[in-house]
Amino acid sequence: MIDKKLLDILVCPVTKSPLKYDKKNNELISKSAKLTYRIKDDIPILLPKNLEKFKVLEAEYHDHEAHHYGEINMINSFHVTHYHQKYLKIINELKDNSVILEVGSGDGNDAKNITKPKITIIQSDISFEMVKLAKNNKKNNAKTVYVVSDAEKIPCKDNSLDAIMIVGALHHLPSPINFFKEARRALSSNGILIVGFEPNSWPYFYIYPCIRFLKKLLMIEKYTSSKHSDVSIGDSETEGFTYSDFKLFLNESNLKLEKIQRIWFLFGFIHTLLSIVNSKLPQDKSIDLPIWLQKLIIYFDDFILTLPIIRNFCWHWTLVAKK
Ligand SMILES: C[S@@+](CC[C@H](N)C(=O)[O-])C[C@H]1O[C@@H](n2cnc3c(N)ncnc32)[C@H](O)[C@@H]1O
Repeated sequence: MIDKKLLDILVCPVTKSPLKYDKKNNELISKSAKLTYRIKDDIPILLPKNLEKFKVLEAEYHDHEAHHYGEINMINSFHVTHYHQKYLKIINELKDNSVILEVGSGDGNDAKNITKPKITIIQSDISFEMVKLAKNNKKNNAKTVYVVSDAEKIPCKDNSLDAIMIVGALHHLPSPINFFKEARRALSSNGILIVGFEPNSWPYFYIYPCIRFLKKLLMIEKYTSSKHSDVSIGDSETEGFTYSDFKLFLNESNLKLEKIQRIWFLFGFIHTLLSIVNSKLPQDKSIDLPIWLQKLIIYFDDFILTLPIIRNFCWHWTLVAKK
């Protein structure tokens, strides 16, 4: 059965025409475009039929790795959650009856911390297994519905959303600008766009090549490679984003920057090292710094990232923009 409010918002991802629920075949139909979309385990699959190879590979990788996701990325460590809480606060302060779309929502790690009850969250991801996992992980009391969709083809009506959130998923897109343009189309006037925890560019040019070189030089590749299957095509092809990239995306999509937060200086190095070590350890043996030390480093990082020049060397960005 498909949620009534969701059906009012959803459109065909290709033509943006309204969708009708066909109860007999349990599918959504776009009559004008003569297209049908399957519903599996109550999750509408709103992907274009001719999805690009890059996105098919992304979906397949995340379908396969869904259950290891949190383990690989240390998503529950204080130095990560501390920064997630900052943008989740914005969502938790939205007015009652707001509708929020999370794009590339993964296993639902962020949505479970949205505590405001009278809002609707649409959690979407290109990977069906990730969406299923998010559905099974639901812990909050906000009304949540689930959709499989592509970030570059948002299946929501024009001006229908109060907020859109994308966290750690923009760098998985072949054309991020398409997402920004789609976000502008689907946001209501004054709607909020949150782009959370996207990687900065410089480590891709200085740090990661050095790590690869050192592994080769020391012949320790086979000892340091992860126990999980490689990385997704998005992760292997991205070169992160500079501040200018974001300014360009916002300009081209006619969105206004409200706030930009720079994340991690020292902690970027520590996190990279911990991730390498933890990728070799069983989950129950993974290591982390004590919280007091994490707080101290975050305090230092937040200060140092206010300084000119050095602040360009943050490891991640979070930005808040408005339509
Ligand atoms: C690094 S994970 C981030 C998950 C989650 N937002 C978090 O912070 O824990 C990236 C997610 O983006 C999804 N993804 C990749 N390409 C996508 C696309 N074109 N449209 C929607 N989601 C996509 C992946 O399936 C994956 O779940």
